[in-house]
Amino acid sequence: MIFEQSFLDSLIQAVEASHKYRDLQIPHTTLQDILAYESQHSQSRKELEANFRKSLHNIMAPYLEDINYPVETASMQEFHSQDPSLETLKSWCQDRMRHHASSCERLPFLEIFYQKIYVTIGTPTSILDLACALDPLGLPWMNLPPTTSFVAYDIHQPRLDFLQAFFQLFYPQARAIQQDILTNIPDQEAECAFFFKEAHRLEKRRPGSNRELFAGLNVKWLVVSLPSRDLAGHHSLEAYHTSLIQKSIEGQPWRLTTDMAGDELLFFIQKHD
Ligand SMILES: C[S@@+](CC[C@H](N)C(=O)[O-])C[C@H]1O[C@@H](n2cnc3c(N)ncnc32)[C@H](O)[C@@H]1O
Repeated sequence: MIFEQSFLDSLIQAVEASHKYRDLQIPHTTLQDILAYESQHSQSRKELEANFRKSLHNIMAPYLEDINYPVETASMQEFHSQDPSLETLKSWCQDRMRHHASSCERLPFLEIFYQKIYVTIGTPTSILDLACALDPLGLPWMNLPPTTSFVAYDIHQPRLDFLQAFFQLFYPQARAIQQDILTNIPDQEAECAFFFKEAHRLEKRRPGSNRELFAGLNVKWLVVSLPSRDLAGHHSLEAYHTSLIQKSIEGQPWRLTTDMAGDELLFFIQKHD
């Protein structure tokens, strides 16, 4: 069905002004892209409005943790001025990661998570952390040399402002960028991209999107992680998620190897030597 532009604009404006989303400053192009896809799959205005909100909720809402980012950013300065040891920094990061589902689930095996990745790809000289959420607070566990560049992408602006302040104080080789990695695939060259626990959701937003993203990235290694079990822990998702990755690289001359860390499936996609 074709919808009037004025109606589409009004749906976007309503989201941008809403209590739930206004502070997040979601990129306009993200909202336009979701709406364009849902317009093709809705038969009435009412259905489009519901589908648009549902899709946006699936992308943003499970990760709206209760962190007050401006307050945390301000108190970070004070924390930094105490010249914390690595152990104190780790404990500060852990306290914040506990508030975000994906990073909280990783805490029990954080000590080995990045080491497992380096066994296959070596210690990277440059990293793009795609749809990063709070994964960059894992930097104290990554053991990277100060020469390794680290670029973190997300669409949640207050979280990115917090991360950028964290980088400036503790990891000056890193930076945080607000960018929708699907509508604006990063073209920055890097040795590897981390894409943790988001591929299944990206595929729901728009089927085929992982294939598009993987092909567009200018990296040697793409490290994708996905949960091995459903949230309740009852069902294995291993076959389902492995098939998602296999379909996303089908026909490409890339090499795929797999591993596991804790309850995360790891997919190593080598795009070139
Ligand atoms: C499941 S969390 C990712 C967790 C993180 N990668 C980790 O494993 O710790 C989802 C994150 O992806 C971000 N996100 C979702 N879609 C995105 C997109 N198209 N571009 C950039 N970031 C996106 C959300 O804002 C949220 O912070």
